[in-house]
Amino acid sequence: MNHPTNQNARGSALTTLIGGIVILLATLYFLVKLASSGYHGTVEETTDAATQTRIQPQGSIVEGDGVPVGERKGDKIFAKVCYQCHAADSSTAGSPKITHNADWAPRLAQGFDTLFNHALNGFNAMPAKGGQSDLTELELKRAIVYMANQSGGNLPDPDKAPAPTESAASGAASEAAASGAASAAGKSEAAAPAEGGSGDVMATGKKVFDGLCFGCHGANSAIPDTPRVTHKDEWAPRINKGKDTLFKHALEGFQDKGMMPAKGGNTELSDDEVKAAVVYMVNESGGKF
Ligand code: HEC
Ligand code: HEC
Repeated sequence: MNHPTNQNARGSALTTLIGGIVILLATLYFLVKLASSGYHGTVEETTDAATQTRIQPQGSIVEGDGVPVGERKGDKIFAKVCYQCHAADSSTAGSPKITHNADWAPRLAQGFDTLFNHALNGFNAMPAKGGQSDLTELELKRAIVYMANQSGGNLPDPDKAPAPTESAASGAASEAAASGAASAAGKSEAAAPAEGGSGDVMATGKKVFDGLCFGCHGANSAIPDTPRVTHKDEWAPRINKGKDTLFKHALEGFQDKGMMPAKGGNTELSDDEVKAAVVYMVNESGGKF
């Protein structure tokens, strides 16, 4: 008895529901159309920025700071990528820290090509390209040179030298080639600093030694073919070469079985500071300079 009434009620409810859905869909459709037509309108505006966006070559992805890939400078890349592990106060174990010349001296002694290959392909805990895979090779070189040159290095600007080589290394290599004749000739600038072995010289020498030379010449150094301080047997054949030759080799670099970088890798040291460090090492190792 109630049956038909119920059916009528259900029928009208259904109609209302379907009508509602249709209206909703229609509204959504118009809203979407309205929104997307607004969007098209913006792009068609011919502002310079809009034109730039449309004509920029594919693949020219711009970093957040707006500098295109390939044109980022060493200091910026360092601050953004390398900093987390190579900052002066970074806690990353084993990474050479910027401005820590002693960290960098043995690295620099490997030559630029090795540094570059290790930074490019990764090396132990050093991730390839520092983890920033979109760095170009030139950009990576800029970052390495920036770091190294803040840390006692003297590497050439990679933008000026298409095939940068480590200056200390090439200096040492050419020195090795010329060493026979040159060391016999001696050098006027290789004259003894003040009075050899005096207190001042030893104090200066110790300071320079502790800050730089120690990295390779420390008594417990593991770097092969390096005369270690206090090891008289290792220094005796060196001392026999004479003071002027040792000064010259420390100043200009020297390569026999090992690799002594010019001024230990820190070209900002004065000649007298380097000589003082030689005097200090020799006098601590059985010599009397
Ligand atoms: C996640 C940490 C990390 C980041 C990021 C990082 N490095 Fe390193 N890097 C290291 C560590 C650790 C070492 C030392 C590896 C070793 O000697 O075993 C190292 C070593 C190096 C060396 C010396 C390699 C050698 O042969 O002695 C260079 C050059 C270098 N990094 C360059 C860079 C540059 C350039 C960047 C930024 C683009 C960068 N690194 C970013 C951790 C990092
Ligand atoms: C990166 C490592 C490294 C650093 C840093 C370093 N040396 Fe050396 N040094 C060497 C090596 C390796 C040799 C041995 C080279 C060889 O005989 O082939 C050497 C050799 C020498 C010699 C002997 C040269 C000769 O004719 O036998 C003197 C002197 C010397 N270093 C002085 C210094 C002074 C001074 C400093 C600090 C200002 C210093 N070194 C920093 C690696 C280093």
